[in-house]
Amino acid sequence: TVTELVDSYGRVHRSMRISITDKCQLRCTYCMPAEGLPWIAKDDLLSPEEIYFLAKAAYSAGIREFRLTGGEPLIRPEVVDIVARLATLSTAEDPVDLSMTTNAVLLPRFAVRLKEAGLNRLNVSLDTLRPERFAKLTLRNSLEQVLDGLHAAKDAGFTPIKINTLIMPGVNDDEILDLTDFSLKNGYELRFIEHMPLGISAWDADTIVTQADILRELSQRYTLTEMPNRKSAPAARWRIDDGGTVGIIASVTNPFCGDCDRLRLSADGKMRTCLFSDDETDLRESLRNGADTQAILRIMALATLGKGPGHSVGQADYVRPKKGMSQIGG
Ligand code: GTP
Ligand code: 5AD
Ligand code: SF4
Repeated sequence: TVTELVDSYGRVHRSMRISITDKCQLRCTYCMPAEGLPWIAKDDLLSPEEIYFLAKAAYSAGIREFRLTGGEPLIRPEVVDIVARLATLSTAEDPVDLSMTTNAVLLPRFAVRLKEAGLNRLNVSLDTLRPERFAKLTLRNSLEQVLDGLHAAKDAGFTPIKINTLIMPGVNDDEILDLTDFSLKNGYELRFIEHMPLGISAWDADTIVTQADILRELSQRYTLTEMPNRKSAPAARWRIDDGGTVGIIASVTNPFCGDCDRLRLSADGKMRTCLFSDDETDLRESLRNGADTQAILRIMALATLGKGPGHSVGQADYVRPKKGMSQIGG
Protein backbone atom coordinates (compact mmCIF):
# COMPACT_ATOMS: atom_id res chain seq x y z
CA THR A 1 0.00 0.00 0.00
CA VAL A 2 1.05 3.56 -0.71
CA THR A 3 1.56 5.51 2.51
CA GLU A 4 3.38 8.55 1.19
CA LEU A 5 3.74 10.40 -2.09
CA VAL A 6 7.48 10.87 -2.33
CA ASP A 7 9.59 11.75 -5.35
CA SER A 8 13.05 10.59 -6.42
CA TYR A 9 14.62 13.63 -4.68
CA GLY A 10 13.09 12.67 -1.35
CA ARG A 11 10.45 15.37 -1.32
CA VAL A 12 7.39 14.14 0.56
CA HIS A 13 4.18 15.67 -0.74
CA ARG A 14 1.66 17.20 1.65
CA SER A 15 -0.25 19.62 -0.53
CA MET A 16 -2.60 19.19 -3.45
CA ARG A 17 -3.95 22.04 -5.56
CA ILE A 18 -7.21 21.09 -7.17
CA SER A 19 -8.48 23.17 -10.07
CA ILE A 20 -12.26 22.93 -10.30
CA THR A 21 -12.75 24.95 -13.49
CA ASP A 22 -10.56 26.44 -16.19
CA LYS A 23 -13.03 29.27 -16.77
CA CYS A 24 -12.82 32.76 -15.38
CA GLN A 25 -14.99 35.85 -15.64
CA LEU A 26 -11.94 38.15 -15.67
CA ARG A 27 -9.39 38.43 -18.44
CA CYS A 28 -6.15 39.40 -16.72
CA THR A 29 -4.12 40.28 -19.77
CA TYR A 30 -1.11 38.25 -18.60
CA CYS A 31 -3.27 35.16 -18.15
CA MET A 32 -6.05 34.88 -20.69
CA PRO A 33 -6.79 36.29 -24.14
CA ALA A 34 -9.85 38.57 -24.40
CA GLU A 35 -11.83 35.90 -26.27
CA GLY A 36 -11.13 33.29 -23.60
CA LEU A 37 -9.61 29.87 -24.19
CA PRO A 38 -11.04 26.58 -25.48
CA TRP A 39 -12.80 25.52 -22.27
CA ILE A 40 -12.85 21.99 -20.92
CA ALA A 41 -16.13 20.28 -21.92
CA LYS A 42 -18.58 19.80 -19.04
CA ASP A 43 -18.46 16.00 -19.23
CA ASP A 44 -14.69 16.12 -18.97
CA LEU A 45 -14.73 17.98 -15.66
CA LEU A 46 -14.25 15.89 -12.56
CA SER A 47 -17.56 15.67 -10.72
CA PRO A 48 -17.74 16.61 -7.01
CA GLU A 49 -17.86 12.86 -6.24
CA GLU A 50 -14.74 12.21 -8.32
CA ILE A 51 -12.88 15.14 -6.74
CA TYR A 52 -13.74 13.80 -3.31
CA PHE A 53 -12.66 10.28 -4.23
CA LEU A 54 -9.26 11.45 -5.48
CA ALA A 55 -8.76 13.81 -2.53
CA LYS A 56 -9.63 11.06 -0.09
CA ALA A 57 -7.08 8.77 -1.73
CA ALA A 58 -4.47 11.54 -1.55
CA TYR A 59 -5.33 12.15 2.12
CA SER A 60 -4.72 8.50 2.89
CA ALA A 61 -1.22 8.98 1.42
CA GLY A 62 -0.37 11.98 3.58
CA ILE A 63 -1.80 14.98 1.75
CA ARG A 64 -3.03 17.35 4.45
CA GLU A 65 -3.53 20.55 2.48
CA PHE A 66 -6.02 21.04 -0.31
CA ARG A 67 -6.32 24.30 -2.21
CA LEU A 68 -9.12 24.86 -4.68
CA THR A 69 -8.10 26.94 -7.68
CA GLY A 70 -9.32 27.74 -11.17
CA GLY A 71 -9.57 29.55 -13.50
CA GLU A 72 -11.90 31.07 -10.97
CA PRO A 73 -13.19 28.41 -8.58
CA LEU A 74 -16.29 30.35 -7.52
CA ILE A 75 -17.86 30.14 -10.99
CA ARG A 76 -18.10 26.36 -10.71
CA PRO A 77 -21.77 25.84 -9.81
CA GLU A 78 -20.98 22.98 -7.39
CA VAL A 79 -18.22 24.85 -5.54
CA VAL A 80 -19.89 24.87 -2.10
CA ASP A 81 -20.70 21.17 -2.39
CA ILE A 82 -17.07 20.43 -3.30
CA VAL A 83 -15.81 22.40 -0.29
CA ALA A 84 -18.26 20.66 2.03
CA ARG A 85 -17.18 17.21 0.82
CA LEU A 86 -13.47 17.95 1.19
CA ALA A 87 -14.04 19.39 4.66
CA THR A 88 -15.28 15.99 5.82
CA LEU A 89 -11.76 14.59 5.34
CA SER A 90 -10.57 16.64 8.30
CA THR A 91 -10.39 14.99 11.71
CA ALA A 92 -9.40 16.41 15.08
CA GLU A 93 -6.21 14.29 15.16
CA ASP A 94 -5.35 14.85 11.51
CA PRO A 95 -6.80 18.17 10.36
CA VAL A 96 -6.88 19.26 6.75
CA ASP A 97 -5.99 22.79 5.72
CA LEU A 98 -8.66 23.57 3.14
CA SER A 99 -8.17 26.78 1.21
CA MET A 100 -9.07 28.57 -2.00
CA THR A 101 -7.41 31.00 -4.38
CA THR A 102 -9.98 33.36 -5.91
CA ASN A 103 -10.31 36.68 -7.69
CA ALA A 104 -12.98 37.57 -5.08
CA VAL A 105 -15.52 38.91 -7.58
CA LEU A 106 -18.15 36.46 -6.30
CA LEU A 107 -17.10 36.50 -2.65
CA PRO A 108 -19.86 38.91 -1.57
CA ARG A 109 -22.27 36.13 -2.51
CA PHE A 110 -20.22 33.14 -1.32
CA ALA A 111 -18.06 34.09 1.68
CA VAL A 112 -20.51 33.02 4.39
CA ARG A 113 -21.51 29.83 2.61
CA LEU A 114 -17.87 28.84 2.10
CA LYS A 115 -17.12 29.42 5.76
CA GLU A 116 -20.11 27.32 6.78
CA ALA A 117 -19.09 24.56 4.37
CA GLY A 118 -15.72 24.32 6.15
CA LEU A 119 -13.27 26.33 4.08
CA ASN A 120 -10.35 27.45 6.30
CA ARG A 121 -8.48 30.08 4.31
CA LEU A 122 -8.80 32.40 1.33
CA ASN A 123 -6.14 33.90 -0.93
CA VAL A 124 -7.35 36.71 -3.13
CA SER A 125 -5.69 37.88 -6.34
CA LEU A 126 -5.58 41.65 -6.65
CA ASP A 127 -3.03 43.59 -8.70
CA THR A 128 -4.27 47.17 -8.40
CA LEU A 129 -6.45 49.44 -6.26
CA ARG A 130 -7.23 51.85 -9.08
CA PRO A 131 -10.54 51.24 -10.89
CA GLU A 132 -9.41 52.30 -14.37
CA ARG A 133 -6.24 50.30 -14.07
CA PHE A 134 -8.17 47.28 -12.83
CA ALA A 135 -10.42 47.53 -15.90
CA LYS A 136 -7.43 47.78 -18.20
CA LEU A 137 -5.66 44.85 -16.54
CA THR A 138 -8.63 42.46 -16.31
CA LEU A 139 -10.83 43.80 -19.15
CA ARG A 140 -13.70 43.92 -16.63
CA ASN A 141 -14.98 46.68 -14.38
CA SER A 142 -15.05 44.64 -11.19
CA LEU A 143 -12.77 46.33 -8.65
CA GLU A 144 -15.69 47.30 -6.43
CA GLN A 145 -16.93 43.69 -6.22
CA VAL A 146 -13.41 42.52 -5.39
CA LEU A 147 -13.09 45.03 -2.55
CA ASP A 148 -16.58 44.09 -1.32
CA GLY A 149 -15.53 40.46 -1.58
CA LEU A 150 -12.51 41.07 0.63
CA HIS A 151 -14.75 42.71 3.22
CA ALA A 152 -17.26 39.90 3.00
CA ALA A 153 -14.48 37.38 3.64
CA LYS A 154 -13.35 39.31 6.69
CA ASP A 155 -16.92 39.62 7.99
CA ALA A 156 -17.42 35.89 7.49
CA GLY A 157 -14.47 35.33 9.83
CA PHE A 158 -11.80 34.15 7.42
CA THR A 159 -8.31 34.57 8.81
CA PRO A 160 -5.73 35.01 7.50
CA ILE A 161 -6.84 36.55 4.24
CA LYS A 162 -3.90 36.76 1.88
CA ILE A 163 -3.70 39.02 -1.15
CA ASN A 164 -1.60 37.91 -4.13
CA THR A 165 -0.26 40.75 -6.24
CA LEU A 166 1.64 40.23 -9.45
CA ILE A 167 3.89 43.25 -9.95
CA MET A 168 4.73 44.16 -13.53
CA PRO A 169 7.05 46.93 -14.72
CA GLY A 170 5.24 50.00 -16.00
CA VAL A 171 1.90 48.41 -15.13
CA ASN A 172 1.52 48.49 -11.34
CA ASP A 173 5.03 48.81 -9.89
CA ASP A 174 4.04 52.28 -8.66
CA GLU A 175 1.44 50.72 -6.33
CA ILE A 176 3.75 48.64 -4.13
CA LEU A 177 3.45 51.06 -1.22
CA ASP A 178 -0.27 51.78 -1.71
CA LEU A 179 -1.12 48.08 -1.78
CA THR A 180 0.99 47.53 1.32
CA ASP A 181 -0.75 50.37 3.19
CA PHE A 182 -4.14 49.06 2.14
CA SER A 183 -3.32 45.55 3.36
CA LEU A 184 -1.83 46.69 6.66
CA LYS A 185 -4.81 48.93 7.35
CA ASN A 186 -7.32 46.13 6.68
CA GLY A 187 -5.39 43.27 8.24
CA TYR A 188 -4.73 41.38 5.00
CA GLU A 189 -1.48 39.56 4.44
CA LEU A 190 -0.06 40.89 1.20
CA ARG A 191 2.26 38.82 -0.98
CA PHE A 192 3.98 40.15 -4.04
CA ILE A 193 4.61 37.65 -6.81
CA GLU A 194 7.42 37.70 -9.32
CA HIS A 195 6.08 37.33 -12.83
CA MET A 196 6.71 33.87 -14.26
CA PRO A 197 6.97 33.09 -17.99
CA LEU A 198 3.74 31.14 -18.42
CA GLY A 199 0.86 31.14 -20.88
CA ILE A 200 0.38 34.25 -22.97
CA SER A 201 2.46 36.55 -20.79
CA ALA A 202 5.05 38.67 -22.50
CA TRP A 203 8.05 38.07 -20.26
CA ASP A 204 11.51 39.52 -20.20
CA ALA A 205 14.05 38.36 -17.63
CA ASP A 206 15.79 41.73 -17.71
CA THR A 207 12.76 43.84 -16.87
CA ILE A 208 10.66 41.79 -14.43
CA VAL A 209 10.14 43.30 -11.01
CA THR A 210 12.12 41.12 -8.61
CA GLN A 211 12.13 40.49 -4.88
CA ALA A 212 15.11 42.83 -4.60
CA ASP A 213 13.22 45.62 -6.41
CA ILE A 214 10.20 45.19 -4.16
CA LEU A 215 12.28 45.16 -0.96
CA ARG A 216 14.06 48.32 -2.10
CA GLU A 217 10.74 50.08 -2.65
CA LEU A 218 9.26 48.88 0.66
CA SER A 219 12.27 49.96 2.69
CA GLN A 220 11.69 53.55 1.58
CA ARG A 221 8.70 53.65 3.91
CA TYR A 222 9.06 50.75 6.35
CA THR A 223 11.54 48.95 8.52
CA LEU A 224 11.52 45.30 7.45
CA THR A 225 12.55 42.33 9.56
CA GLU A 226 12.82 38.96 7.81
CA MET A 227 10.74 36.24 9.46
CA PRO A 228 11.35 32.50 9.66
CA ASN A 229 8.98 30.45 7.51
CA ARG A 230 7.62 26.99 6.98
CA LYS A 231 10.09 25.32 4.64
CA SER A 232 7.74 24.49 1.80
CA ALA A 233 5.95 27.85 1.83
CA PRO A 234 6.39 29.73 -1.42
CA ALA A 235 6.60 33.16 0.18
CA ALA A 236 9.47 34.63 2.16
CA ARG A 237 7.99 36.96 4.77
CA TRP A 238 8.97 40.19 6.45
CA ARG A 239 7.54 41.95 9.48
CA ILE A 240 6.75 45.57 8.68
CA ASP A 241 7.66 48.11 11.40
CA ASP A 242 5.77 46.54 14.29
CA GLY A 243 2.54 46.00 12.40
CA GLY A 244 1.65 43.34 9.86
CA THR A 245 3.70 41.24 7.49
CA VAL A 246 4.41 41.23 3.80
CA GLY A 247 5.50 38.27 1.71
CA ILE A 248 7.27 37.86 -1.59
CA ILE A 249 6.90 34.82 -3.82
CA ALA A 250 10.16 35.00 -5.74
CA SER A 251 9.65 32.05 -8.06
CA VAL A 252 12.14 33.50 -10.53
CA THR A 253 15.01 34.89 -8.47
CA ASN A 254 14.63 32.57 -5.47
CA PRO A 255 12.69 29.42 -6.44
CA PHE A 256 11.30 27.13 -3.76
CA CYS A 257 11.45 23.99 -5.93
CA GLY A 258 13.89 22.24 -3.57
CA ASP A 259 11.28 22.27 -0.82
CA CYS A 260 8.23 21.85 -3.04
CA ASP A 261 5.62 19.57 -1.50
CA ARG A 262 2.76 20.23 -3.92
CA LEU A 263 0.93 18.17 -6.46
CA ARG A 264 -1.76 19.48 -8.79
CA LEU A 265 -4.98 18.17 -10.21
CA SER A 266 -6.50 19.90 -13.22
CA ALA A 267 -10.25 20.41 -13.60
CA ASP A 268 -10.34 17.52 -16.08
CA GLY A 269 -8.58 15.16 -13.73
CA LYS A 270 -4.97 15.28 -14.87
CA MET A 271 -2.36 15.07 -12.18
CA ARG A 272 0.68 17.29 -12.61
CA THR A 273 3.71 17.26 -10.36
CA CYS A 274 4.99 20.70 -11.32
CA LEU A 275 3.55 23.94 -12.65
CA PHE A 276 6.26 23.99 -15.27
CA SER A 277 6.16 20.42 -16.52
CA ASP A 278 3.96 19.22 -19.37
CA ASP A 279 3.92 15.71 -17.92
CA GLU A 280 0.39 14.86 -16.93
CA THR A 281 -1.19 11.67 -15.66
CA ASP A 282 -4.85 11.13 -16.49
CA LEU A 283 -6.51 10.09 -13.23
CA ARG A 284 -10.00 10.70 -14.57
CA GLU A 285 -9.64 8.04 -17.21
CA SER A 286 -8.41 5.49 -14.68
CA LEU A 287 -11.21 6.44 -12.31
CA ARG A 288 -13.89 6.13 -14.99
CA ASN A 289 -12.41 2.79 -16.02
CA GLY A 290 -13.09 1.53 -12.51
CA ALA A 291 -9.77 2.01 -10.70
CA ASP A 292 -10.17 1.66 -6.93
CA THR A 293 -8.38 3.67 -4.25
CA GLN A 294 -5.31 1.44 -4.17
CA ALA A 295 -4.97 1.51 -7.95
CA ILE A 296 -5.34 5.31 -8.01
CA LEU A 297 -2.73 5.60 -5.26
CA ARG A 298 -0.27 3.49 -7.22
CA ILE A 299 -0.76 5.75 -10.23
CA MET A 300 -0.32 8.86 -8.07
CA ALA A 301 2.80 7.42 -6.45
CA LEU A 302 4.35 6.57 -9.81
CA ALA A 303 3.57 10.04 -11.20
CA THR A 304 5.12 11.61 -8.10
CA LEU A 305 8.28 9.56 -8.58
CA GLY A 306 8.64 11.11 -12.03
CA LYS A 307 8.64 14.66 -10.71
CA GLY A 308 11.59 16.70 -11.91
CA PRO A 309 13.96 18.70 -9.68
CA GLY A 310 12.41 22.06 -10.52
CA HIS A 311 12.03 24.69 -13.20
CA SER A 312 14.75 26.40 -15.19
CA VAL A 313 13.08 29.78 -15.61
CA GLY A 314 15.59 32.36 -16.79
CA GLN A 315 18.02 29.74 -18.12
CA ALA A 316 18.72 28.93 -21.76
CA ASP A 317 17.01 25.52 -21.63
CA TYR A 318 13.69 26.86 -20.27
CA VAL A 319 10.62 25.86 -22.29
CA ARG A 320 7.20 27.28 -21.41
CA PRO A 321 4.63 24.67 -20.46
CA LYS A 322 1.98 24.31 -23.16
CA LYS A 323 -0.86 25.12 -20.79
CA GLY A 324 -1.26 28.47 -19.06
CA MET A 325 -1.94 29.22 -15.40
CA SER A 326 -5.74 29.12 -15.74
CA GLN A 327 -5.64 25.69 -17.42
CA ILE A 328 -3.22 24.16 -14.94
CA GLY A 329 -4.77 25.82 -11.89
CA GLY A 330 -2.97 28.85 -10.42
P1 GTP B 1 -0.41 29.47 1.00
O1 GTP B 1 -0.67 28.09 1.50
O2 GTP B 1 -1.40 30.45 1.58
O3 GTP B 1 1.00 29.93 1.13
O4 GTP B 1 -0.79 29.43 -0.55
P2 GTP B 1 0.08 29.46 -1.84
O5 GTP B 1 0.89 30.69 -1.91
O6 GTP B 1 0.78 28.19 -1.99
O7 GTP B 1 -1.07 29.50 -2.95
P3 GTP B 1 -1.60 30.63 -3.92
O8 GTP B 1 -2.60 29.98 -4.80
O9 GTP B 1 -2.04 31.82 -3.18
O10 GTP B 1 -0.35 30.93 -4.80
C1 GTP B 1 0.28 32.16 -4.82
C2 GTP B 1 1.19 32.24 -6.02
O11 GTP B 1 2.26 31.35 -5.89
C3 GTP B 1 0.54 31.83 -7.31
O12 GTP B 1 -0.17 32.88 -7.88
C4 GTP B 1 1.70 31.48 -8.16
O13 GTP B 1 2.23 32.66 -8.72
C5 GTP B 1 2.67 30.93 -7.15
N1 GTP B 1 2.69 29.48 -7.16
C6 GTP B 1 1.71 28.63 -6.77
N2 GTP B 1 2.09 27.35 -6.93
C7 GTP B 1 3.32 27.39 -7.45
C8 GTP B 1 4.25 26.40 -7.85
O14 GTP B 1 4.02 25.20 -7.77
N3 GTP B 1 5.44 26.83 -8.33
C9 GTP B 1 5.75 28.14 -8.43
N4 GTP B 1 6.94 28.49 -8.90
N5 GTP B 1 4.90 29.11 -8.08
C10 GTP B 1 3.71 28.75 -7.60
N1 5AD C 1 3.29 34.61 -13.05
C1 5AD C 1 3.00 34.73 -11.74
N2 5AD C 1 1.75 34.69 -11.24
C2 5AD C 1 0.75 34.51 -12.12
N3 5AD C 1 -0.58 34.43 -11.94
C3 5AD C 1 -1.16 34.22 -13.14
N4 5AD C 1 -0.24 34.18 -14.12
C4 5AD C 1 0.96 34.36 -13.50
C5 5AD C 1 2.31 34.42 -13.96
N5 5AD C 1 2.61 34.28 -15.25
C6 5AD C 1 -1.20 34.57 -10.64
C7 5AD C 1 -2.35 35.54 -10.62
C8 5AD C 1 -3.15 35.07 -9.43
C9 5AD C 1 -2.77 33.63 -9.27
C10 5AD C 1 -3.89 32.69 -9.41
O1 5AD C 1 -1.79 33.36 -10.26
O2 5AD C 1 -1.92 36.85 -10.44
O3 5AD C 1 -2.79 35.78 -8.27
FE1 SF4 D 1 -8.92 34.87 -14.04
FE2 SF4 D 1 -6.94 34.50 -12.33
FE3 SF4 D 1 -6.42 34.36 -14.94
FE4 SF4 D 1 -7.07 36.72 -13.82
S1 SF4 D 1 -5.23 35.47 -13.37
S2 SF4 D 1 -7.92 35.89 -15.75
S3 SF4 D 1 -8.49 36.16 -12.24
S4 SF4 D 1 -7.71 32.96 -13.81
